[in-house]
Amino acid sequence: MAEYRKAANVKDVSSGSGMVMQIDDKRVALFNVGGNFYAIDNTCKHRGGPLGDGELDGTTVICPWHGWQYDVTSGQCKTNPQVCVTRYDVKVEGDEIKIAL
Ligand code: FES
Repeated sequence: MAEYRKAANVKDVSSGSGMVMQIDDKRVALFNVGGNFYAIDNTCKHRGGPLGDGELDGTTVICPWHGWQYDVTSGQCKTNPQVCVTRYDVKVEGDEIKIAL
């Protein structure tokens, strides 16, 4: 069963941006969309680009390497519909953001 792990503080991720974090053996991309937080696997399925460093447009993140687009709420790739990255559940407790891994 997934266990919620502290990933960041709310103030660490400003609205409209993302960040990359390492939790155990996973690299996770965490995004703030208008005060709602979403987490997906950081590794782009195209050639491994860091999605957490990508530009955020609403709920879409654009991979900084070649522009593949992913919905951060689901992990679904919009550029190649057959591709999906793992999405993780997120909850906020006080000023802590926790991700279920
Ligand atoms: S590595 Fe992400 S679009 Fe190429």
